[in-house]
Amino acid sequence: MADTTKHLLLVDDEAALREAIAERLSDYGFVVEQASSGEEALARLADFAFDIIVTDLRLPGVDGRAVLDAAVERYPEIIAIIITGFGTVKDAVNAIKQGAADFITKPFQFDALLHVLNSAVEQRRLRSENAYLRSQLEERYRIDGLIGHSRVMRELFQLLETVAATSSTVLITGETGTGKELAARAIHHNSPRRTNRFVAINCSAIPETLLEAELFGHVRGAFTGAVGTRQGRLEQAHKGTLFLDEVGTMSPALQAKLLRVLQEREFERVGDSHTIKIDVRIIAATHSDLAKMVADGAFREDLYYRLNVIPVQLPALRERREDVPLLVQHFLQKLAADQVPPRVATMSQEAMRQLMAYVWPGNVRQLENVVERALAFSHGRPQIELTDLGTEIQTVAASTNGTEPWFPDEGLDLERYMEGVELTLIKRSLERTQGNKVQAARLLNLKRTTLIEKLKRLERGQPGA
Ligand SMILES: Nc1ncnc2c1ncn2[C@@H]1O[C@H](COP(=O)(O)OP(=O)(O)OP(=O)(O)O)[C@@H](O)[C@H]1O
Ligand SMILES: [Mg+2]
Repeated sequence: MADTTKHLLLVDDEAALREAIAERLSDYGFVVEQASSGEEALARLADFAFDIIVTDLRLPGVDGRAVLDAAVERYPEIIAIIITGFGTVKDAVNAIKQGAADFITKPFQFDALLHVLNSAVEQRRLRSENAYLRSQLEERYRIDGLIGHSRVMRELFQLLETVAATSSTVLITGETGTGKELAARAIHHNSPRRTNRFVAINCSAIPETLLEAELFGHVRGAFTGAVGTRQGRLEQAHKGTLFLDEVGTMSPALQAKLLRVLQEREFERVGDSHTIKIDVRIIAATHSDLAKMVADGAFREDLYYRLNVIPVQLPALRERREDVPLLVQHFLQKLAADQVPPRVATMSQEAMRQLMAYVWPGNVRQLENVVERALAFSHGRPQIELTDLGTEIQTVAASTNGTEPWFPDEGLDLERYMEGVELTLIKRSLERTQGNKVQAARLLNLKRTTLIEKLKRLERGQPGA
C-alpha cells in the first residue's frame, strides 16, 4: 500500500457500483471523491490535484477520454486508471497511449482493481525515485564543465547554483588551474542573464595602458592611435556578465574607476564626458591573496569589499584527491574523440594511485595535461601504465614528501594509517642505509631494538604494506 495518503477521484455514472467501490477503497486508506459525469470530473480536477483518477471510459456527455486528457495535461504525475467495457481492448490501448497507467475491464472484482491500483502506485514511486536519483547524480558530479564528487565540490556546485540566481558580485579565489573561469561561466550559464553575453577580460594579460580603454571603451582621438570610437568590454556585457580575471593586478587608478562602476553602475568611455549607465553582473577572480594585498596596501580595501560580496573559494586538487579518478575518466573520454580510431583508454590501478598521491601544484589543468601526455606515451595500448606518466609524477609521488596527508571523505582508520606511515618510513630508512639497522635507527631517532620490534610488529599486522 502507498506510504502516504492517496487522494483518488472516482468517475462512473453507475451510482451503485461507484459508491460500493468508493467505500471499499476508503477501507484501504484512499481518500475518495466521486463524480457521476465527465463534466463533474472536470470541475473536480480543476479544483484539486488528485494523486489518482479512476474513470469509466463511457460516460454520458463529456466522455472518459476527455477526462483522462484533462487530468494528464493538468497533472502529468497523476496515476490514471481506466475502466473499460468488455471487448474494448482497443479503447484501453488508446487510453494508455494517452497517458493512462493501466486499465481494468468491467465487470471486475474489487481485488483486481486494488491490485491494478497498488502496482500503478508502486511503479510511479519507483519512476520518480529513479528520476530523483538521476537528478541527484547530475547535481552531484557536475555543473557545466566543472566536475567533482568530493564533498567540497558538491557544496561548491550548490553554492554556484544559489549564487547564479542572484545578480550579486562574486569574487572567485583559488590556485592556478582550479577551475575559476569554469566556475564563472557556470554561474553565468545558470543565471537569468544566460541569454546575454558573458564577456571575459584578463587584467594581467593586457598592458596597463590599454586596459582602461579595453574595459571602458574610448572615443575617437582619446589617445594616440584611437582612430575610431570603440565600445569597451563593460558595454559589451550590458545585461550579461563581465568576468574580470586576475583582478589583483589592476593599477590603483583603474581600481578607483572600477569601484565607481560597482557603486554607481555608470562610467564614461575614455576621452568622453558622456556618462553611460549599465546593468552588468560582475564576477572577479584572482589567484592572489587579496586580503593580504589589502593589508599590504596593494589593493583598495573598499574595492575589495565591493568585490567580495559573495566569496567563492575553489579547492586545490590535492585537497580533494578523491576527485582524481573521476577527472581522469572525464579527460580520457574527452580525448577519446581525437584518437584514430576513437578509443577510450583506461588508467591502470597503479598509475591511478600515483596520480592520486601527487601534489598537483598546477591543479586540474596540470592533471589534464598529464593525462593527455600519458595517453600519447601509451602508444595505443588499451591501458595507461605507471611508466607512461611523466617522471615528476612517477618519482615525486613515490615519496610522501611535501604531501599533506590525504583525508578521505568517508574518514579513515587512524591507527592503521599511522602504522602504514611508520612502516613506510622505517623501510625508507633501511633502504637509505642498505639495510643497516643501527644506522637506520639513528636516522629515525630510535633505539635499534625499538626499530626491530616495530618492524616485526608492523610487518605482521600489515602484510604487503
Ligand atoms: N572541476 C573541473 N572539472 C573539469 N575540468 C576542470 C575542472 N577544473 C578545472 N578544469 C580544467 O582545467 C583547466 C583550467 O581551468 P580554468 O581555466 O577554469 O582554471 P583557473 O582557475 O581559471 O586557472 P588560472 O588561475 O591559471 O587562470 C581547464 O582546461 C578546465 O577545463
Ligand atoms: Mg583563469
